[in-house]
Amino acid sequence: MSGNIALVAGATGLVGKELVELLLKGKEFEKVIILTRKPSGIKHAKLEEHRIDFHELEDYRFPQDLSHVFCCLGTTIKKAKTKEAFRKVDFDYPLLLAKKAEQQGIPQFLVISAMGADEKSSVFYSRTKGELESALKKLRLKGLHIFQPSLLLGKRDEFRLGESAAAVVARMVPFLFFGPFKKYKPVPGKVVASAMKQAALKGGQGVFVYSSDDIHKAGAERE
Ligand SMILES: NC(=O)c1ccc[n+]([C@@H]2O[C@H](COP(=O)([O-])OP(=O)(O)OC[C@H]3O[C@@H](n4cnc5c(N)ncnc54)[C@H](OP(=O)(O)O)[C@@H]3O)[C@@H](O)[C@H]2O)c1
Repeated sequence: MSGNIALVAGATGLVGKELVELLLKGKEFEKVIILTRKPSGIKHAKLEEHRIDFHELEDYRFPQDLSHVFCCLGTTIKKAKTKEAFRKVDFDYPLLLAKKAEQQGIPQFLVISAMGADEKSSVFYSRTKGELESALKKLRLKGLHIFQPSLLLGKRDEFRLGESAAAVVARMVPFLFFGPFKKYKPVPGKVVASAMKQAALKGGQGVFVYSSDDIHKAGAERE
C-alpha cells in the first residue's frame, strides 16, 4: 500500500480528467477521491466520487488520511456570466480547499493557476489568479505547488476561440515559440496533469511554482 490518497476538485475538466486517469494508473495512489457537481462517468476500483453542491463547499468535510489535494477548478467569464461567479470558482473555492488542507495538515496541495498570474494586473483573469496565489502563500500549507501553464491544448466539448487559434498556430508555425517566445508555447492538458503527478510524488515542504516551461520540461522527461 502506498499510503497516498488523493482528492481532486475539477476532475471533470480538461486537466482534471487527465490527472484522474494518471492517478488511477499505477500503484502510487491507493485511492482517488473526486469532488464533482455532476456525475463524472469514471468507473474504477480505486475511485470514490463525492458529489456536492459547491455553494456548500464550506460544509464539506475532507475524508481522513488524505495525502494530496489537487485543485483543477476553473471557469471562464463567458461560462460564469459575471465576474463574481468567475471569482467563486477561480478564487473562493480553491482557497477554501487549501484552508481545509491546512487545517487537516494534509502534506501536499497542488493547484493550477496560469501564466501571467499577477495580483497587480489590470486584467481581471490574471489578477484573480495572482490574488489566489498570494492568498495561498499566506497559509501554512506544508507543500504548496502552483502550476502556471500557458494556453491549454486538448479536446473539449465546448469551443474556445483562443485555445483553438493557439492550437492552429502551434501546429502551423511551431517556430513562433522559440527563443524569448518559447515560454508562450501552448501546453496540452495531459502534460500539465503529468507535471502535477510528478510534483505530487516528489512532495517537499514549502512553496513550489512551476512555469509553463517547467511544465513542458516535466512532460518531456516523462517521454
Ligand atoms: N484554458 C486555458 O488555456 C488555461 C490556461 C492557463 C490556465 N488555465 C487554468 O487551468 C485550470 C484548469 O483548466 P481546464 O481548462 O482544465 O478547466 P475546465 O476544463 O474548464 O474544467 C474546470 C473544472 O472546474 C469545474 N467547475 C467549473 N465551474 C464550477 C462550479 N461553479 N462549481 C463547481 N465546479 C466547477 C468543472 O466542473 P464541470 O465539469 O461540472 O463544469 C471542471 O471540473 C483552470 O484554473 C484554468 O483557469 C487555463
